[in-house]
This record gives sequence, C-alpha cells and structure tokens, in this order.
Amino acid sequence: MSTDLSTRLQSAPVVPLVGEDDPATAVAVTKALAAGGLTVIEVVLRSDNAQAGMEAILAQTEGLAVGAGTVLTLDQAKSVVASGAQFIVCPGLVDNIAEYCLAEGIPFFPGTMTAGEVQRAYAMGLREVKFFPAALAGGVPMLKAFSSVFREMRFMPTGGVSAGNLTEFLSVPSVIACGGSWLTPANAIAAGEYDKVTALASEAVAIAKSVRP
Ligand code: 3PG
Repeated sequence: MSTDLSTRLQSAPVVPLVGEDDPATAVAVTKALAAGGLTVIEVVLRSDNAQAGMEAILAQTEGLAVGAGTVLTLDQAKSVVASGAQFIVCPGLVDNIAEYCLAEGIPFFPGTMTAGEVQRAYAMGLREVKFFPAALAGGVPMLKAFSSVFREMRFMPTGGVSAGNLTEFLSVPSVIACGGSWLTPANAIAAGEYDKVTALASEAVAIAKSVRP
C-alpha cells in the first residue's frame, strides 16, 4: 500500500463507496464525505457513468485519495488507472488484475472470503485484501481466525459493515479499514440531503477515533 493511503487510513480507517451515476452528484457526495473527515473514496463501477464520476471527482476535489471499486476486468483496471485511480478494489481475486497491480505498484484490494482465497493472495505477494462480503463471510470471528494463521495479512472488511458494527470490526488489529455504502444512503442523496452524508461520515470518524485513538 502507498504511504499516502496508509497514513490516511490510519487517521480515518473508513472507506465510503460512491456509486452515483451522475458525475455532478458523485462530486457532491464526495465533498459531503470529505466535510465529515473521510479522505479515501472508492468509486464503484456499477453504472455507465461511474468512471466519468471518478474523473469528475479527481478534477473537482483536492486532498483526497480516490480509487475504483467493483473492477471486474483488466481493461477496466487499466482504464481507471489511466484516469487517475489511486487504488483498485475487486469483489474477488482475479489473477490478471492482481499481476497488473503488483507490477505497477498500484494498491490493490481483491475480495476474499475463504482461507484458500486469502492464501492464494498471499502466495501472489499480496499482503492486503478486501474481506467480502464481510458479514456473510463470517464477520469478526472469521477475521480473527484468518488473522491467527495469516499473520502478515491485512484486511478491509466490506459488505454488511455499518455504524452499528464498525467498532467491532475496527477492534480487530489486522483490519486496515472498513468499507461500505452505509455512508452514502441513496434516499438521502436523491433528496439532496448531503448534510446527512456528512453526519454519517463524522459519526464513522468519531467511532474510529474511539476504537483507535
Ligand atoms: C462492496 O462492494 O464492497 C459491497 O457491495 C458493499 O457492501 P455494503 O453495501 O453492505 O456496504
């Protein structure tokens, strides 16, 4: 992981997912998150304009680390990196994307949910993975079991994380950060209630500070 990303995640170990199709809305959501203290943003490629949204965020904001998530193909990975993505997140572990990110030195978080997947990531030289879908894959007990055998691995649980269980996940020392969409609720965004997004971000930062002062 880059020093910049590592430093940011140490001070606020929470990665919000931004998935708006409209680039202007994606920028507004990102600014609302940043106002609440979150500076690492994952733009998920789940709509036609998601990459344009990421490009708009990069062009119209400062002081953030912006990456791409839900990256499914090597072409997508190369394209978002060419657009300025500072890290790549995938739902699963795909060899060609992993090899590309390792060769280029791009921080990469592939989804893993079994010991076999974590060990395969380890064998490839990865030391950071996403743990997805965290709640369904066994949650905190599973993370603790993985951490006892994969001592060098660091995890980013995502999928079912919320303000209600953030403390529990961040209490696991091998957790680098938690990711999730609870910080960007579609109904609030549709209503233009960006102050709610900022409040959720502030709440997450406060929870993180209470667990990791
Ligand atoms: C992801 O892509 O990481 C998940 O879809 C996020 O899951 P969540 O919506 O439960 O936070």
